Amino acid sequence: MLQALIGAEDGAFDCEWVKTITAAVARLHQGGIDVVLLGLGLSDSQGLSAFLQIQDNAPEVAVIPLTNGRDDAVGLKAVRLGAQDYLVKDLLTQQPLAHAIRNAVERKRTHEALKKAQNGVELREEDRTSELNQLYDEEQKAHRQSEILRVASLALTRSLDLDQVLLSLLDCLATLVPYDSACVILHVAESQFGVAVARGYEYFADGVPLKRLVFDMQAYPHLREILESRRSVVIPDTADYPGWNASIGAGLLIRNWVGVPLIANDNVIGLYSVDNRNPDFFTAEHRELCEMLAPQAAIAIENARMYATLGSREEQLRSLSHRLVQMQEAERREIARELHDEVGQVLTGLNLVLGTAARQAAEKVGEGLAQAQTLLNDLMGRVRALSLDLRPLMLDDLGLLHALVWLFDRYTGQTGVSVRFTQTGIRGRRFGQDIETAAFRIVQEALTNVARYSGVDEALVHIWASDDMISVQVEDRGRGFDVDSVLSAGQSSGLAGMRERTELIGGRLTIDSVPGTGTYVSANLPLHAAGRVERGGP
Ligand SMILES: Nc1ncnc2c1ncn2[C@@H]1O[C@H](COP(=O)(O)OP(=O)(O)OP(=O)(O)O)[C@@H](O)[C@H]1O
Ligand SMILES: [Mg+2]
Repeated sequence: MLQALIGAEDGAFDCEWVKTITAAVARLHQGGIDVVLLGLGLSDSQGLSAFLQIQDNAPEVAVIPLTNGRDDAVGLKAVRLGAQDYLVKDLLTQQPLAHAIRNAVERKRTHEALKKAQNGVELREEDRTSELNQLYDEEQKAHRQSEILRVASLALTRSLDLDQVLLSLLDCLATLVPYDSACVILHVAESQFGVAVARGYEYFADGVPLKRLVFDMQAYPHLREILESRRSVVIPDTADYPGWNASIGAGLLIRNWVGVPLIANDNVIGLYSVDNRNPDFFTAEHRELCEMLAPQAAIAIENARMYATLGSREEQLRSLSHRLVQMQEAERREIARELHDEVGQVLTGLNLVLGTAARQAAEKVGEGLAQAQTLLNDLMGRVRALSLDLRPLMLDDLGLLHALVWLFDRYTGQTGVSVRFTQTGIRGRRFGQDIETAAFRIVQEALTNVARYSGVDEALVHIWASDDMISVQVEDRGRGFDVDSVLSAGQSSGLAGMRERTELIGGRLTIDSVPGTGTYVSANLPLHAAGRVERGGP
């Protein structure tokens, strides 16, 4: 009957006929079906279950259950479950059937399109949500990072004491990155770097004397890479890193290593590193967090270092002023004693001689005056010597060379120690007053020491000057002494005074002495040092 009705539509529908649900499902899987007219009383499935099987197997195909007049309710249920329509078999006529089929197909297509669109909206919504989540995460991360920086900057700038700053740096790092050990390496001199602070290495090996270790960074590939690239370096697994075996810490159980350069005023002033016992432990975020601290840490370290330099310079100035005051007092005592003992006595003698002469007969006065003149000459000599001791005038009037020649002459006369003197570049030249005074006093003190302690009767003095430097060297081949123990005892004021004078004008003093061999004192004084402390001297 159906076939007849559909066929009558003059080629409008291609109709296939199967008798069981199994056959229908198999046919549907092959595709090309728009609508299923489903009888509900098939041999292998009945009622709604037949409908559901079709729907499960071909959800995109429209289904029109065909009910008997009796079970209208089943048709309605099928429609509620997704059927496009239902038809009562006994009431079918050609016209409504064709309509029903077209409507069902159309409804199904619209339904499918709607479903697709809805899925698309849901997908887009999912995208938006994940985008928003990502933005939220990023915002949270930025917030966390700025908070970390704020706390770190507070901690790092709380103190100007370098050790304190370095410990704060390790503390800050610990809050960001779970390291087993960490250290800070700072530039010491030229290509030398030293471990300034270290923490956690006791977990690896007992008593590793890492702190204060000084080494050449160029000698270690991973450290050299940091120096050259000025970027952080990660060694995911030290076991696979060719240069690690010869490294500092190679004997330790470090497997994962991250090093970050400290850059201040465009110079790499050092680095800090964190270690972990597990390979590949540190994540990209750990590295990023480590790097975040570097700029602030570098500034804090530079400030602390500068402060320490200023502090020690101030300390030097204070101690020199103190010594100068002491020296002045000693000199005043000496002058007072000389005036009292020498000049005072001669004046008393002169007074007596003149008094006696005044009472004597006229022919004896000449004798008294001659005696008075001898005393006066003696007095003039003593006053001149006293004045020269205080400060040789020729140093100001005639310059360093003349003052030194005078000093050697007098020194040899007083001590019996001869001076072998050579010079280059100082004849006819004048230097700054502070330089000439420093050079003169250093030679004077060194020569006094030779006479007092060396036990030999010859000293060698060599002075040479270039355009920007004057170098003063005093040498003896005498008894010698242990420089370190004398300086660390802190008792010496002569050698310490030489050092202070030299350093205050930006120079460098070297004292070399070997017991039994001799002593060598050398001061290099820059003629135009920037930032030199300008100061006259006694
Ligand atoms: N040329 C030298 N030969 C041997 N020993 C020396 C020489 N120069 C210094 N010393 C040793 O170094 C010590 C410290 O010298 P320094 O000039 O600092 O102090 P001082 O001469 O003892 O006292 P001051 O110079 O304050 O009067 C001396 O006491 C001496 O033992
Ligand atoms: Mg001395």
